[in-house]
Amino acid sequence: MALLDWIAPESGLRIEGQGVRLRPPRASDFAEWRELRAASRSFLQPWEPTWPADDLSRAAFRRRLLAYARDREAGVAYPFFIFRASDDALTGGITLSNIRRGVAQMGAVGYWCGQAYTRQGLTLGAVRALSEFAFRTLGLHRLEAACIPDNQPSRALLGKAGFVEEGFARAYLKINGAWRDHVLFGQVSPYPGREGLDEGVSV
Ligand SMILES: CC(C)(COP(=O)(O)OP(=O)(O)OC[C@H]1O[C@@H](n2cnc3c(N)ncnc32)[C@H](O)[C@@H]1OP(=O)(O)O)[C@@H](O)C(=O)NCCC(=O)NCCS
Repeated sequence: MALLDWIAPESGLRIEGQGVRLRPPRASDFAEWRELRAASRSFLQPWEPTWPADDLSRAAFRRRLLAYARDREAGVAYPFFIFRASDDALTGGITLSNIRRGVAQMGAVGYWCGQAYTRQGLTLGAVRALSEFAFRTLGLHRLEAACIPDNQPSRALLGKAGFVEEGFARAYLKINGAWRDHVLFGQVSPYPGREGLDEGVSV
């Protein structure tokens, strides 16, 4: 079963954005992903949960893909890799997670960019494209994002992408081994009336 999952046909999901293409991670991305994450480790680790010891192994990547596929099928999360449109280079990742339906119709956005690809507008393009997907395709009503107060790049990016600073949560997420306060951002759908129209997409 696990092997079948690993070699199962990939999801047909694709999202086009300004300068970027998003698609779900697949097994053949492993080498490029590992190289990018390894080269960016000291840049990313301060802003992410502690990387498990085997994080960059093929086995861990395989487990990651299985969890992604399960989450997508359940409609609770949509993880994507970000590719630069000009040359298809893998530049980072973005995930719409914690999707809650019913009276909430909301989800949370998280992202990372490989150090060599920063400041090219690629993550901004990805956040904008993912927001469109969330609001128009999935029919969500609201998106949330959170970052550590001194993460100026992320705060500025969220502002540019249409998120508004809404609050502050103490000891909100365990980042790099410590429970860190976070600034909370939100964005309400500019497409009123669509919320909840689509309870998922075909994966
Ligand atoms: C935050 C992060 C994702 C930004 O990715 P990026 O691809 O470089 O961002 P973009 O090029 O799309 O930048 C969009 C806007 O964000 C802001 N921004 C991005 N990097 C910035 C920096 N180093 N300093 C100040 N503002 C910055 C700017 O407003 C920028 O627009 P501009 O270049 O026209 O001024 C990236 O720095 C990263 O991965 N950091 C480490 C991990 C992390 O912080 N993850 C998010 C946790 S909440």
